[in-house]
Parts: sequence; C-alpha cells; structure tokens
Amino acid sequence: MFMQFLFLLSLLSLVSAGSFSSVQPLCHDDESFALLQFKESLIINQSTSAYSKISSWMAQSSDCCTWDGIQCDENTGHVISLDLSNSSLYGSINPSSSLFQLVHLQKLNLSINNFNHSEIPVGVRRLSKLTHLDLSYSGFSGKISSEILQLSKLVSLNLALNPLKLHKPGLRSIAEKLTNLEELVLSEVDISSTVPSILANLSSLTTIFLRDCGLHGASFSGKLPNSVGNLKSLYCLDVESCNFSGPIPSSFANLTKLTYLDLSENFFSRGTLSWVGKQTKLTMLRLYWTNLYGDIPFSLGNLTHLTTLSLSRNELIGPIPSWLANLTQLTNLYLQKNILQGPIPTAIFSLMNLQTLYLSSNQLSGIVEFDLFRELNSLSFLKLSMNNLSLLIDPSYNTVLQKFRLLGLDSCNLGDFPDFLRNQDQLEVLTLSMNNIPGQIPKWITNFSKYTLQILDLSGNFLTGFDQTPYALPWTNLQILDLIYNKFQGSLPIPPPSIVVYQVNNNMLSGIISEMICDLSSLSFLDLQYNDLSGFLPQCLKDLRNLSTLNLRHNKFHGSIGQIFMKGSKLRMISLSQNHFQGPIPRSLVNCVMLEILDLGNNHINDVFPSWISFLLELRVLILQSNEFHVAIRILPNLEGMESFGVDRATHMQGQIYIRNNGWAWAFSYTYSMELTNKGIKRECWRILDSFVAMDLSGNKFDGEIPNIMGNLKALNMLNLSNNVLSGSIPSSLANLSNLESLDLSQNMLSGEIPPQLVDLTFLSFLSVSQSSCGTYTTRETIFYIWNQFIRWKCRIVRKPIVQKMC
Ligand SMILES: *[C@@H]1O[C@H](CO)[C@@H](O)[C@H](O)[C@H]1NC(C)=O
Ligand SMILES: *[C@@H]1O[C@H](CO)[C@@H](O)[C@H](O)[C@H]1NC(C)=O
Ligand SMILES: *[C@@H]1O[C@H](CO)[C@@H](O)[C@H](O)[C@H]1NC(C)=O
Ligand SMILES: *[C@@H]1O[C@H](CO)[C@@H](O)[C@H](O)[C@H]1NC(C)=O
Ligand SMILES: *[C@@H]1O[C@H](CO)[C@@H](O)[C@H](O)[C@H]1NC(C)=O
Ligand SMILES: *[C@@H]1O[C@H](CO)[C@@H](O)[C@H](O)[C@H]1NC(C)=O
Ligand SMILES: *[C@@H]1O[C@H](CO)[C@@H](O)[C@H](O)[C@H]1NC(C)=O
Ligand SMILES: *[C@@H]1O[C@H](CO)[C@@H](O)[C@H](O)[C@H]1NC(C)=O
Ligand SMILES: *[C@@H]1O[C@H](CO)[C@@H](O)[C@H](O)[C@H]1NC(C)=O
Ligand SMILES: *[C@@H]1O[C@H](CO)[C@@H](O)[C@H](O)[C@H]1NC(C)=O
Ligand SMILES: *[C@@H]1O[C@H](CO)[C@@H](O)[C@H](O)[C@H]1NC(C)=O
Ligand SMILES: *[C@@H]1O[C@H](CO)[C@@H](O)[C@H](O)[C@H]1NC(C)=O
Repeated sequence: MFMQFLFLLSLLSLVSAGSFSSVQPLCHDDESFALLQFKESLIINQSTSAYSKISSWMAQSSDCCTWDGIQCDENTGHVISLDLSNSSLYGSINPSSSLFQLVHLQKLNLSINNFNHSEIPVGVRRLSKLTHLDLSYSGFSGKISSEILQLSKLVSLNLALNPLKLHKPGLRSIAEKLTNLEELVLSEVDISSTVPSILANLSSLTTIFLRDCGLHGASFSGKLPNSVGNLKSLYCLDVESCNFSGPIPSSFANLTKLTYLDLSENFFSRGTLSWVGKQTKLTMLRLYWTNLYGDIPFSLGNLTHLTTLSLSRNELIGPIPSWLANLTQLTNLYLQKNILQGPIPTAIFSLMNLQTLYLSSNQLSGIVEFDLFRELNSLSFLKLSMNNLSLLIDPSYNTVLQKFRLLGLDSCNLGDFPDFLRNQDQLEVLTLSMNNIPGQIPKWITNFSKYTLQILDLSGNFLTGFDQTPYALPWTNLQILDLIYNKFQGSLPIPPPSIVVYQVNNNMLSGIISEMICDLSSLSFLDLQYNDLSGFLPQCLKDLRNLSTLNLRHNKFHGSIGQIFMKGSKLRMISLSQNHFQGPIPRSLVNCVMLEILDLGNNHINDVFPSWISFLLELRVLILQSNEFHVAIRILPNLEGMESFGVDRATHMQGQIYIRNNGWAWAFSYTYSMELTNKGIKRECWRILDSFVAMDLSGNKFDGEIPNIMGNLKALNMLNLSNNVLSGSIPSSLANLSNLESLDLSQNMLSGEIPPQLVDLTFLSFLSVSQSSCGTYTTRETIFYIWNQFIRWKCRIVRKPIVQKMC
C-alpha cells in the first residue's frame, strides 16, 4: 500500500519535473521503481561519516536520471550507471533484488558498503551489458558463482577485499570467458589454483591486483607463468603476499608498459634482478622479500621515473651504487635487511624528494656526517640502525629544517643524545638502542615530541636516569618504552597512561614501585626483572586490567603477593621468582584463566601444592622450586594444559602487539624467558618452545608419595621433583608421560625399583634418582648406566629425529 502511494507520488512529480527538463529524456518508471525498491531493501548505517548517495533518492523527484549516483543514457533514458560506492549501505542483497531489473546497466559500483555476507547474487547475470563491476570491500562472502562468467562484456572486474572464494569457476574460467577484461582486481579473494597460463591470452589486460590472495583459506600457489610476458598492455601488476614459488619469469623484461609492479612477500626461488631495465615507465617497484641475490644491477638506473623502490629483506650484496642518484624522482627508498656493504654514497644526498630512506640491517660502514641529511627537506622516515656506521652529529646542527616522524639510529656509535632532537616536535618513533650514550637523559628530551612520540627505545646504553623529578614521563601518546640494559638508578620512572609496553629490566633501579604505576590502564607488558626493587607489591596492581605479562624476577620484593589478580585477568605470564615473597599463593590467581607460565621459584612461599591451579586450563609451565611448599602433592584429576599435547608448533612462547600508523608499522614481540633446571643443569632459557610443558617442584618440603595421577600429565616434557621428602615407590603411571625428556626424582626418600616401563619413554634422555634412600640406584655408576641404557635404546629404536621440546 505504502509502495503504491510512493509510486503514485513519483508519477505525479514525474509530470511536473518533465516541464523543466525537455532535453533529457525522463527516467523509465520501471527503473525508477526498481531503484526505490532497492533503496527500501537496505538500511543506511547512520554511524558512518560517509554521505549516502541513496539518501536523496525520493519518489517525488521523479527523474531518477538526476538522482545522485545515477547516470542515464542520453538517448534512451535507461539507467546505464549506478555508483553507490561508500554510501553506508547495510543489508542483504538477494537473487531477486530489484537491482537486477536495471538490465541496461553498464557500470555498477557498490564498493565500500556492508552487504552483510551476502553471496554475489545469481541475479547479476541479468545485467549482461555490464562493462564495469566493482563490488570491492562491501561485505560479500561465499563462493563466486559461475553467473559472473555470463557478463562477457566486462572490462573491469573488482571483487577485492571481500571474504570470497574463487574456486569453481576458477581463475581459468574467468580468463576463458571474460576475454575483454582490462582490469582484474581480486586482492584478498581466496583463489585456490595456480595461475593458468591462459591468463596470458587476455591481451588487453592492463591491471592485475591479486595481493594477499594466498593468505586466506586454501593455498594459492604455483608459478607465475612465463607467458605473463605476453601481457604487453599490463601497466599494473600487484601479487604481493600471494605465495608464488618458482622463479620470477624473465619475460617480465618485456612488460615495458608497467608503471606499478609489486611482487613482494612471495616464495620465489633465488634469483637476480637481471630482468629489470626496460620497464622505464615504472614509478613503483616493490620487491620486498622475494629471495633476490647479487648486486643491485646497473640496469636499474634506467628506471628514472621510480618514486618508490623497495628491495628490502633480500640478499643483495655489494655497495649501494652511487648512480641511484640518477633516480631523481625517488621519494621512498627501502634497502634494509640485505647484505649491502661499504659507505653510504654521498650521491644519495642529492635525492631531494626522499621522504623515506631505510638502510638499516646491512653491513654498511664508515662515518656518516648527519649534516648531509640537512638538505633532504622532505625526509621524514630514516633508518640507519644495525650497520657498522659511525654517525657524526655536529652539536651545532640543531636547526634542522625537516621534521622527522621516524628515526632509527640504533647501533650508530652515538656517544651522546643528538642535540638536534630538541627541535623535533613531530617524532612518532625514536630508537637509539645499542649506542654508547652515558649518564642522565637531558631534561629537554621529555619536552620534545610530547604529543606525537609513540615508541621510544633507548635500550643498551649507559643511561643512569631521567634528569627530572617526579618520575612520571610526559609523552602523552607513548605506547612502547624500552629502557632495558642500561644503568638506571633510583626509583622506577613511571610512563604515561597510554603505555602498552614498558620494559626496564636489567638496570639498577631500587626502592618501591610507586602506586602511580596502577594508573597505566593500557599496560600489557611490564618487565622489571633484574633490578634492585624492593618493598611490598602495590595492591592496586589489580587495576592493570590489560596486563598480559608481569615479570618481576630477580628483585628484592617481599611480603605476601597479595590479591592482585582480578576477574577478567589477561595475564599469560607471571614471573615473581628470585624475590623474597612470603606467605601462601594468593587464591585470586584462579582469575588468571589465560595463564600459560607461572614462575614463583626461589622465594619463601609457604603453602601446600596449589591443586586449584587445575582451573587454569592454559597453564603449561609451573615452577615452584626452592620455596617452602610442604605436605603431600595433591593433584586434581584435571590439569588440562599439561594433560593435552598442547600446540605442536616450533614457535616460541611470546606475546605480541602490532602498532600500525600512517607511514609505519611496528611489530613488538615479547619472548618469554626463564631460568630452568633441566637435565640437572641450571640455565637461562631465552626462548621457550610453544609446545614446552614443565613442572618444577624441586627444593621444597613435599612429602608423602608421588601421586599416581601425575601420570595423567601426559604433555609434560620436564618433571623435577628432586630435593623434597617424597617417599614410597616411583609410580609406574609415570610411564604414561610419553613426552618426558627429563625426569629428576633425586634427593628424596623414594624406595623400591625403577619401574621398567619408564624405559619405554621415547624421548627421555635424563633420569636422575640419585640419593634416594633405596640402596639399589644410588651409586653414580648405576645412574650412569641407566643414562646410557636410555641413550643406546634411543639410538636403536627411534628412527625419527628426536624432537627437543626444551628451549
Ligand atoms: C556502521 O558503521 C560503523 C562505523 O563505521 C561501523 O562500526 C559498524 O560496524 C557499521 N554497522 C554495520 C551494520 O555495518
Ligand atoms: C567514504 O566517504 C567519506 C566521506 O563521505 C570519507 O571520509 C571516507 O574516506 C570514504 N571512505 C573510503 C574508504 O573511501
Ligand atoms: C567505485 O567507487 C570507488 C570509490 O568511489 C572508486 O575508487 C572506484 O574507482 C570505483 N570503481 C570503478 C570501477 O569505477
Ligand atoms: C544480516 O544477516 C543476518 C544473518 O544472515 C540476518 O539475520 C540479518 O537480518 C541480516 N541483516 C540485514 C539488515 O539484512
Ligand atoms: C591462448 O593463446 C594461445 C597462443 O596465443 C592459443 O594457442 C590458444 O588457443 C589460446 N587459448 C584460447 C582459449 O583462446
Ligand atoms: C603456499 O604454497 C605451498 C605450496 O607451494 C603450500 O604448501 C602452502 O600451504 C601455501 N601457503 C599458504 C599460506 O597458502
Ligand atoms: C620478449 O618478447 C619477444 C617478442 O615477443 C620474445 O621474442 C622474447 O623471448 C621475450 N623475452 C622474454 C625474456 O620473454
Ligand atoms: C635501458 O632502456 C633502454 C631504452 O629505454 C634500452 O634500450 C636499454 O636496453 C635499457 N637498458 C637495460 C640494461 O635494460
Ligand atoms: C646516470 O646518469 C649519468 C648522466 O646523467 C649517466 O652517464 C649514467 O650512465 C647513468 N647511470 C646509470 C646507471 O644509468
Ligand atoms: C666496522 O668498521 C670499522 C671501521 O670503521 C672496522 O674496523 C670494523 O672491522 C668494522 N666491523 C665490522 C664487523 O665490519
Ligand atoms: C619545552 O618546550 C617549550 C616550547 O616548545 C619551551 O618553551 C620550553 O623552554 C621547553 N622546556 C625545556 C626544558 O626545554
Ligand atoms: C585493553 O585491551 C583491549 C584489546 O586488547 C583494548 O581494546 C582496550 O582499549 C585496552 N584497554 C585500555 C584501557 O587500554
């Protein structure tokens, strides 16, 4: 009824509008109606800032040809183009949508909307006149159906940035059926096939975007066919992160129209840049992480239109050629993470348009006068870190013209804080680690880039402290502060509340932790290990709701740990070892349901075995060694993290955050480390394999028998019960611990036989039962014998390589 009323209205207004526009034929009623129906079927998301073209469509203003986003054929009046891109549309499109009544459409652009996981509707086949179809970034999902192949007039097809699958039909069918294609954009579409060589028959193709097509779902792999070289019209090819293997086809030499080429992050076989040189129109050449080796070839000097050149993360050797200065248009030059040697050629400093210059992590050497950078007025991003460079900064160089946003000057032989930083008020990232900067951090540093600085790394210097009190630091947007391995003394400096990562371990900080730390509500990683901090833990630590890592190892904290763990805790790693903590383990620890590592070793904790930790389903490493735990070990029948086999990946236990910004991205990862007594030897494990599962209860006063149920903790790689007062016999259930590499039962009062089943443990390479009161196995010889038995047995039986689960 309502629709009929609208329709009537539109007819009425059609008549009145007609008197104004006599040249332009009026829009056809059925199309106008179809458009309004389409509008009705969707919701406009009011929370976006984008203006919705559809919102102005009214039945009253009848000439739909004048509506926003619509274009009609001048002669026939049929709607031939509909552009509703970025119009805040939300809702599903079904196969019978009135949209598909617009059969004269030649261009349809629905990109940047949210079609609520609709499949690309089969009705689309009715739009057989389409030449341009853009459905990118609009929330379509599912399989791309074969109806799309009926749009044989398509010149441009863009389905990028949707969780779509191109399987059956695949890329081959597209190449076979849509022979007029000039633009094919399928970035992030899951293409589960190799690149069919028939793609090369699409001789009119100018643009191929397949970026990230292999990362989602099933694999997209295989080689880039050499026939790609036949696509002579190609000016844009982007296959970044597509999991290609095999060589980069030499036929690329023939793609002389290319202006944009991105082959980064694929698994190409080792190759050189010999094919580069004739693509003289290139403005963008990105070959990041493509397994290149050899020199930077002379022929690159031909590409004088280049604005961006990325060759980073390859194995390029030799010097940075001074003829790079011929590429006068360069704005972004990425050469980091190669094996480039020699000095930075002064010619580089004539590239006046440079905005980004990344030369870090090479083997460059020599003295660099920072003064030379003065001329590069646009330079905002500069990384020279991790070379063998000595940066000379003239102290009078403090009137720098350019404003840096990122400065990476790690290990540049700096002996002082560069004075020019004083006037840098737009820095977002500053890294000065591994230099020789001594003493107090000058007062002015806390004044520079106050509102912009997000990452500050001063680690590995000889810094003693901030020249200021109180200890709250001023950068209001600082997210990562790394001060490790310095000589900081006095109280713990407190970063601003924006901080996410705060590492100040391996310094000489003393005194208590100020309660101001509890205001750091975003804090996720806190590492204070290896300092001289003392006193009680502030109980307000419970307010740090986002904390995932709490490492206070090797300080002088005392008192009870307290109720610092709240519901909803995100803690994954807690190390309080090597302090003077007393009293029981706080029961509030059960709130840490994500906890993977708990290290309370070397304290004076006085408690019974915390059997309630069985609620911590992720717990994989439990270290209670050298405390005052007592009475019999009582393990509840479910300790899931230790029972299941865990993750079987050879990655290391770590926490990560990723900060992305306009112009740079920062991946921070915190690798968990701890001291482990493994196979009788105490050592620092800097990395712990993800699959490592361990329990160390040694050096306590646990008595009674080893509970049978311990045999349920099947994932254990290491079990240390030594130096307690355990008695009785060794339960044969321990033979169920089929992943055990190290079992230490020594210095107890165990008696009886070593269960022969223990010999069946595939990975066990260390077993110590020395000094148990039972006479049979106490002598060194016997232990040695058992040791050897295991080793020989392993050599004889085990054919697959032994997986070392330890760090
Ligand atoms: C509406 O727009 C807001 C802001 O862009 C977005 O966060 C939200 O997900 C959108 N809602 C839908 C249903 O698309
Ligand atoms: C969408 O349009 C709004 C303004 O209407 C603009 O700010 C935004 O950048 C556009 N989004 C995209 C992805 O182009
Ligand atoms: C569709 O609209 C978007 C955003 O306005 C635009 O960037 C894109 O080029 C359009 N697609 C086509 C094929 O014209
Ligand atoms: C979005 O999809 C869901 C699930 O299919 C459906 O329940 C919901 O009604 C849809 N929303 C709109 C606005 O179409
Ligand atoms: C593709 O091109 C090759 C050689 O140019 C030709 O032999 C082949 O028939 C073509 N395939 C199709 C399906 O057109
Ligand atoms: C990449 O391709 C290889 C085969 O070449 C395949 O085994 C692997 O799963 C693919 N990786 C991804 C992420 O698709
Ligand atoms: C470039 O194209 C020419 C002619 O089409 C061909 O003879 C030559 O082999 C091609 N070069 C490469 C490296 O594929
Ligand atoms: C440089 O470009 C010219 C034509 O622009 C070409 O003749 C020459 O072979 C190219 N040099 C290399 C090394 O490819
Ligand atoms: C760089 O330019 C100079 C002259 O402008 C020229 O002689 C030289 O050959 C060029 N180098 C390369 C590698 O193209
Ligand atoms: C670093 O450079 C100095 C001279 O600048 C040189 O003596 C030293 O051997 C270089 N070190 C390395 C590792 O290349
Ligand atoms: C901090 O900066 C302001 C303005 O940028 C300046 O006036 C003030 O003197 C600076 N303070 C120090 C200690 O450098
Ligand atoms: C805590 O972390 C979540 C996501 O990890 C984030 O959305 C939230 O903003 C953080 N809270 C604070 C106070 O930073």
